[in-house]
Amino acid sequence: MSTFDFDHVPDRRNTGSLKWDRYAGRDVLPLWVADMDFAVCPAIVKALHDRVDHAVFGYTRQPAPAVEAVLDYLERVHGVKAEASWLVWMPGMIPGLAMSSVAIGQPGDEVMTFTPVYPPFLHVPKDAARGLVAVPLTEIDGRITFDFPAMRTALTPRTKMVMLCSPHNPVGRVWARMELQALADFCVEHGLGLCSDEIHCDILLEPETCPHTTALRLEGPVRDQLIVMMAASKTYNVPGLGLSFAIIPNAETRRRFIAAKNGFVAETNPLGFAATAAAYSEGETWRKELCDYLRGNRDLLAGFLAEHAPEIKMPPLEATYLAWLDVRALGLANPCAFFEKHGLGFSDGADFAGPGFVRFNLGCTRATVEEALRRFSRALEALTAVNEAVPA
Ligand SMILES: Cc1ncc(COP(=O)(O)O)c(C=O)c1O
Repeated sequence: MSTFDFDHVPDRRNTGSLKWDRYAGRDVLPLWVADMDFAVCPAIVKALHDRVDHAVFGYTRQPAPAVEAVLDYLERVHGVKAEASWLVWMPGMIPGLAMSSVAIGQPGDEVMTFTPVYPPFLHVPKDAARGLVAVPLTEIDGRITFDFPAMRTALTPRTKMVMLCSPHNPVGRVWARMELQALADFCVEHGLGLCSDEIHCDILLEPETCPHTTALRLEGPVRDQLIVMMAASKTYNVPGLGLSFAIIPNAETRRRFIAAKNGFVAETNPLGFAATAAAYSEGETWRKELCDYLRGNRDLLAGFLAEHAPEIKMPPLEATYLAWLDVRALGLANPCAFFEKHGLGFSDGADFAGPGFVRFNLGCTRATVEEALRRFSRALEALTAVNEAVPA
């Protein structure tokens, strides 16, 4: 029996929602940007009420309960004994990607990343005066993984850092411990720093067989230039509260990371801290039920594709609520625009360096997924009708 009701959600129209405003006044389901339609867990609402009742919202540094909640969470959930001094708080993960790019190496150096990937990985290093070495992920035995031979070929003397998405948005892979270790060995062999964005690390759909290993578990010299970034934002659906944190064991790397704020990065905010502390200390039951619900959404989509559109491939979604659909077999010039015409507002794979793919955000009610699949069926029928009408 579940405690929380994910089937009923607040109406997000006219609330300034980025996700919903894109299609305001149009009959298009917003299934794109990565936030979920669910109300947050009651413990977070209560913590925010309590903080609001204080009625003073001055510049805020990390309150002790947030630090304690994060340290406890790292140990309890990820098996890492971190120190409070390792934590650096930021108003979001994207500033952290930029700060990491600046912290390691010099202007003109390069950052290696693996495509397809969350779009800021493709432009933030460039905005930070770094070159980009984008290496496509590969498939081995039906599983998407790192392509070490291609990485070695792509590497140049100016490559100084790997920017990892772990778990990987958009393909939904949870990197296995051995893959992570091999990546760490690669970094050490070539003198590269490692920035690991683990924002999705608690949205695990197969926690028994695909548990998350944080890069903080890596031992040895890779730790000298290791920046791990996490947040309660994706898992607990509070990205609008703008708070994330980096965990940086090495003091010099930490110093360089903090220095990279350089007047560009805003202060952190008190509501973010209140939500983060409540999420990590009181949100575990909600999180587990969320993952169960999302697994149901994923299975519904996977079953639909297997039965009605086997030509559309979806890599097994081990983590995140972001399904990555290979629709190349449909032969569409612009898949995202095609589905939008049929009432489905997906993310365009091209933005992730994955043209011919769309990303389907399953962070919504089961009823929304069901409606999306009805529309999907109609879109495929319309396509078949057009193809049949074209003379051979
Ligand atoms: C891998 C990854 N990193 C970072 C972000 C954005 O984080 P923030 O909103 O904290 O900047 C996202 C959002 O979807 C993401 O998927």
